[in-house]
Amino acid sequence: MLSQRLYNLGGMRGEGCDRERGESDMEIGMIGLGRMGMNMAKRLMIGGHRVVAYNRTPRKTDILAREGAVAAYSLAELVENLPPARVVWIMLPAGQPVDDHLDQLREILSPGDVVVDGGNTYYKDDLRRRPLLSEKGISLVDVGVSGGIWGLENGYCLTAGGPADCCREIEPVFKTLAPPGGYLYCGGTGAGHFVKMVHNGIEYGMMQAFGEGFEILEASPYAGSLDLAEVARVWNNGSVIRSWLLELAQDLFSRDGGLTDIEGYIEDSGEGRWAVQQAIETGVAAPVMALSLIRRLRSRNQAPFSDRVVTALRREFGGHSVQPASSDEREPNEAGR
Ligand SMILES: NC(=O)c1ccc[n+]([C@@H]2O[C@H](COP(=O)([O-])OP(=O)(O)OC[C@H]3O[C@@H](n4cnc5c(N)ncnc54)[C@H](OP(=O)(O)O)[C@@H]3O)[C@@H](O)[C@H]2O)c1
Repeated sequence: MLSQRLYNLGGMRGEGCDRERGESDMEIGMIGLGRMGMNMAKRLMIGGHRVVAYNRTPRKTDILAREGAVAAYSLAELVENLPPARVVWIMLPAGQPVDDHLDQLREILSPGDVVVDGGNTYYKDDLRRRPLLSEKGISLVDVGVSGGIWGLENGYCLTAGGPADCCREIEPVFKTLAPPGGYLYCGGTGAGHFVKMVHNGIEYGMMQAFGEGFEILEASPYAGSLDLAEVARVWNNGSVIRSWLLELAQDLFSRDGGLTDIEGYIEDSGEGRWAVQQAIETGVAAPVMALSLIRRLRSRNQAPFSDRVVTALRREFGGHSVQPASSDEREPNEAGR
């Protein structure tokens, strides 16, 4: 049973919204049916909303249509299938794909329509895009979405920014997507994505700390008697660091304690970089986030050029011994340049 809890947005004022509708079951367009958008659309349909779905690759649209969505095979078709004032949610990789879609949407949406960007967009992009939409009478709502692939079942934590009255009017959608208490209106344009950016910066630090802690255990004299899944399990029962991340760690260590099937090559989707940039811009010392980010960059290059520079310099000034390179290590590593 999805939450029926009411969230209080009352009294919030700010940038205006031209919408004049507030039903509890809404009609919404979903653009981008990837890992997030597909499940979010499903959760919305389970919650009683009518979803018109579009995805670049039509096969995913077909899959969702079989579960009750209205299929759209172009943005124009999506817009035609929604009554004004429309709510269109985009769930795309941040950056150019969002710009490309907004360029098209601003030509085919109508004044009073709302675009919700639920991807991990940089808040400064929201600020840049808002006037491009508002000159056509279209409102932009930015929503930081957290919950990953488990969100369909558990709900998504949402932090919303943009016109307060828009957010209030599309609150039924937020309430369906979020678990009880899992939704917050954060302020004007960019605020929702800003809070999500900081969330992800924290996430970087938490995951790095867990990684380091388990590595210290694994390298310890007690490694032979320690079952990492059991350590995670016991920490999850009453300890200060109990958490969902630790529950995930418990589960994956119980499947493969050595994590032998993956390389430690850590991607980043930009949020950690922006969080660190923000810290620098505002003079906030954020060493944990910064180092977690740097560690991710380093994970992609196990034999960086900098290590060879340092090793060679030590040999030059101090005559320190060096290990001869294997032929593989002589290859320039593009990831490190
Ligand atoms: N995964 C997570 O845990 C998570 C959590 C919170 C927020 N987010 C954010 O949510 C957004 C979506 O993430 P996701 O995990 O759902 O991504 P995903 O699984 O990679 O799906 C991306 C979706 O965007 C479409 N797409 C990608 N590039 C496109 C382009 N140039 N033009 C048109 N469509 C394009 C893809 O269409 P095709 O099917 O045609 O490839 C697909 O539907 C991202 O901003 C991500 O950072 C992700």
